Amino acid sequence: MKYAIFGDIHSNLEALTAVLEKAEQEEVDKYICTGDIVGYNADPFECLNKIRELQPDVIVRGNHDDYIGSEIDLLGFNPQAAHVVEWTREHLNPEDRQWLAELPLSKTVNHNTTIVHATLDMPGRWGYIFDKFNAMSSFNYQYTPICFFGHTHIPSKFEKFGGVNGDGGFEEIILQPGHKYMINPGSAGQPRDGDSRAAMAIYDTEEKLITLHRVEYDIETAQKKIRNSSLPERCAERLALGR
Ligand SMILES: [Fe+2]
Repeated sequence: MKYAIFGDIHSNLEALTAVLEKAEQEEVDKYICTGDIVGYNADPFECLNKIRELQPDVIVRGNHDDYIGSEIDLLGFNPQAAHVVEWTREHLNPEDRQWLAELPLSKTVNHNTTIVHATLDMPGRWGYIFDKFNAMSSFNYQYTPICFFGHTHIPSKFEKFGGVNGDGGFEEIILQPGHKYMINPGSAGQPRDGDSRAAMAIYDTEEKLITLHRVEYDIETAQKKIRNSSLPERCAERLALGR
């Protein structure tokens, strides 16, 4: 079985389309989405629909899905972030927002893999796993060999076998028996590791192999759509920088 794992799409239809084309080329059987379908870019409705049509095995709720799906008060947000949330709320209908709000915070499939957007220790607090110290707390609540997560927009791998190791990045991981892994497939729609290409991972359960893929997409069109909306210019600029 081959799974495509992707998340942090953030309403970027061009990136999502490119990632799904790559998944098709690689002949994946199933899909897993690590959350944050919406926010930052200009196509929330289209991205949400495309993902629903795909019927992934798992979709978990990201913090942006949560802010946009709910009526959460935006007083503590900086003005640009609040504007993006409000803009996106206005561009979705109430049923779609409710659908986002009802996504689970975490889910386990096949007794083997758990999916969460942020961390397993406190999934609704939206903490970040940037280093092995952050990863340690989450590993304490990980009861499956593999966990896919997102939120940082940076492809990363943490491995627990005795202690916890994490080198930050990865290209491929050959899964070892008795080891636990936390793997971030990076961001499809707003990468922040300095590489502007869309990111995703493929998990081949028979080969016990997880590979990272980077995919070129039409950044200019995604930027143009942002600039034709009232979304902040910064959202357009950062796509080309991968930051
Ligand atoms: Fe995100």
